[in-house]
Amino acid sequence: MKILLTGGAGYVGSHVAKVLLEFGHGVAVLDNLATGHMRTISKLAELGKRNFSFFEADICATDHLEQIFRQYEPDAIVHMAGLKLVEESFERPEAYFRCNVVGTASLLSAASACRCKRVIYSSTAAVYGASERCPFREDLPPSPSSPYGWTKALAERLVRKWGETGYQARTAIVLRYFNPCGHDRFFDNPLQIEDSGGNSLADAMVRVATGLESHLEIYGNTYPTADGTCRRDFVHIRDIAEAHLRAVAFTETAAPSFDIFNLGSGKDTSVLEFLEAFHEATGLRVPFSFVPPRKGDLAVSRADVERAAMRMKWVPRYDIHGICQAIRPRGHSVRPAPFATPPRTLVRRNHRERVKG
Ligand SMILES: NC(=O)c1ccc[n+]([C@@H]2O[C@H](COP(=O)([O-])OP(=O)(O)OC[C@H]3O[C@@H](n4cnc5c(N)ncnc54)[C@H](O)[C@@H]3O)[C@@H](O)[C@H]2O)c1
Repeated sequence: MKILLTGGAGYVGSHVAKVLLEFGHGVAVLDNLATGHMRTISKLAELGKRNFSFFEADICATDHLEQIFRQYEPDAIVHMAGLKLVEESFERPEAYFRCNVVGTASLLSAASACRCKRVIYSSTAAVYGASERCPFREDLPPSPSSPYGWTKALAERLVRKWGETGYQARTAIVLRYFNPCGHDRFFDNPLQIEDSGGNSLADAMVRVATGLESHLEIYGNTYPTADGTCRRDFVHIRDIAEAHLRAVAFTETAAPSFDIFNLGSGKDTSVLEFLEAFHEATGLRVPFSFVPPRKGDLAVSRADVERAAMRMKWVPRYDIHGICQAIRPRGHSVRPAPFATPPRTLVRRNHRERVKG
């Protein structure tokens, strides 16, 4: 399939592009390089060769998008270009609205004009926000607690309406990521931290473990959890990337429809447990101190991943130990992990290699 991937120069997008290329899809990345990187594009071009192209463009520029769509003629669009920092979204809500909502409307309009019938949209657990009913199921009403979460929830509705109201038979899928972690070493990212803000817990741990920062600040230790710290659903970036392969396959076989799938590990891990697993995997200690809880942080956030397993046949493979190996800075040894069963049904088309299960 020919897939147009917006935001493919960024963290999640680059990993998704790599997996799509490995499995024989054609990939065109569309990105304005606001937070993405040209060196990522060069690595993908090296891997994909004639199966890969890059368009430097902004998703808000509908006319330019239409030209690109006419030139590339994608079978499907994976839309993950966007702004994603929760705290920044309180400071610059208009920028988030413009990029995440207006940009999505612009992309959908260009897709309609060029008769593309399949869209997969990258959303977030932040749409569940203040919801108390954990594990979060896809049918919970959105209840975001930040401008970022609201813009993603609004974009989801646009994607849904686009899927349901077109005169052509369309399929639209929303994927809600929980806490993606880890890096593929292919991208030559020495510290294994995101360049695009890198504000995740995993990034902060690596910055401390490698001496860039003195200690980790943990927000709150009085939550109603066993050790008092928040519990989150961390999911390996490779699992997230492979879910997109499943989603692409799903749009080929499913009847025209709209669907939402959580992408998490289905397990929650406390901040202190994460630090301990990181130490076990890498031998690196992360000094920490407690600071007051952040407004709006929930005690526990965990995905219900049944729906993705049932309908898309996607099951995450990596546990917290596997994740810790994938956030290990370069030059640090790995301790063997007791996990990672490769999926039986994923077959690399261009490498003639069957993944053993
Ligand atoms: N990383 C996470 O923890 C996480 C969690 C949940 C959801 N998400 C969602 O996944 C998507 C990708 O996140 P990421 O972590 O890879 O972020 P990222 O910042 O690394 O990547 C975003 C990419 O989009 C591009 N971009 C931004 N605005 C653009 C525009 N107007 N036009 C064209 N390109 C534009 C950037 O240059 C960048 O390459 C986002 O939509 C985000 O909301 C991410």
